[in-house]
Amino acid sequence: MNSPPFASRLSAIKPSATLAISERAAVLRAQGVDVVSFAVGEPDFPTPPHIREAGKRAIDEGATRYTRVRGVTPLLEAIANDCEARRGVRPSLDEIVVSVGAKHTLFNLALALFEPGDEVIVPSPYWVSYPDQAVLMGAVPRILETTEDEGFLVTPAALEAAIGPRTKALVLCSPSNPTGSAYSEAALRALAEVLERHPIWVIVDEMYGQLVYDGFRQTSLLSLAPKLRERLVIVDGASKTYAMTGWRIGWMIAPPALAEACEMIQGQSTTNPATPSQHAAIAALGGERAALDAMVAEFGVRRRLMVDGLRGIEGISCRMPEGAFYAFANVKALVGKRAQGTVLSDDVDVASFLLEHAQCAVVPGSAFGAKGYIRLSYATSQAQIRKGIERIAAAVSTLR
Ligand SMILES: Cc1ncc(COP(=O)(O)O)c(C=O)c1O
Repeated sequence: MNSPPFASRLSAIKPSATLAISERAAVLRAQGVDVVSFAVGEPDFPTPPHIREAGKRAIDEGATRYTRVRGVTPLLEAIANDCEARRGVRPSLDEIVVSVGAKHTLFNLALALFEPGDEVIVPSPYWVSYPDQAVLMGAVPRILETTEDEGFLVTPAALEAAIGPRTKALVLCSPSNPTGSAYSEAALRALAEVLERHPIWVIVDEMYGQLVYDGFRQTSLLSLAPKLRERLVIVDGASKTYAMTGWRIGWMIAPPALAEACEMIQGQSTTNPATPSQHAAIAALGGERAALDAMVAEFGVRRRLMVDGLRGIEGISCRMPEGAFYAFANVKALVGKRAQGTVLSDDVDVASFLLEHAQCAVVPGSAFGAKGYIRLSYATSQAQIRKGIERIAAAVSTLR
């Protein structure tokens, strides 16, 4: 083929590993294999009825045209109200930009902030898009490893040591995808003390902020660290909280000049997020909590089922996550074991083994920068979790 070359930046990034596993599981399913998928990153619940109705009504009432790039004013107001209720700080409307999902919000931020020569601190295990978005902008992700013993949280000393003259930003995620770990108020305050001394951007992804369990109290740097306000960005969205992944609504709360820059960038790419979706999101944020509370309660039950089940399997251990809907299991004891003669040489082999011999799709930790682990999403029914755990236990018991 003699087509002209693609842009060289493409060679620096890879397809999302989480999507790759889901696709592989889908292919097996299409072949008639009964695969239990623990690979998905979205709630299995339908979008609650009052939100769906608001979206349909918006279409019927003519909300089918372009809007302001950053979103309609009632949505910006709903986001400001929600932020005030949950974080105790009311952002002004010029601090809010709504985008086509939170991934788009992060992409706008990367375009606005990162460039060649910059380093972006990304704690690992990380959500797959943070490093790749930085790389696409020509910046260098500086992976800051955290340990299971420290709850997969960045310590103030490690953060201090990672910040250098080229550091442009830190990207934190709490509660985290993939580990489910979340920073307590004390842990955040300790990080804020370090961050206050260094003039870098602080981007905190709080997509899972309302999906926390066992009375864990979610807190935000926005509430705790007023001194960081002029370089602090909160990323949030409707996808996970309200089971609205397909509607594509995410947003940032950022200093006005950065919000304006991101709006300008968005104005040259997608323009506004889909207008009916914006109206559905207004309904989602409208204060009706019953559906959300029911989802969180169900996730809480599944979390125990999944983690207790994993802990019951010899060779697998798992810390109890504070939030999100993922269990991040340690499978280091399985690495080096033999499956019908072949050695499982790493977590990728473990994940392949589980797909092949337990018909269970999980994501290898390497995809998130954490060798020796697998991520299991419990955004699936209790029956599926029981079935998957049984199958994993049976398959693992055959390893020698
Ligand atoms: C930590 C985190 N941030 C952002 C996103 C992106 O969400 P959205 O679907 O709104 O683009 C995800 C989705 O997987 C996520 O896990």
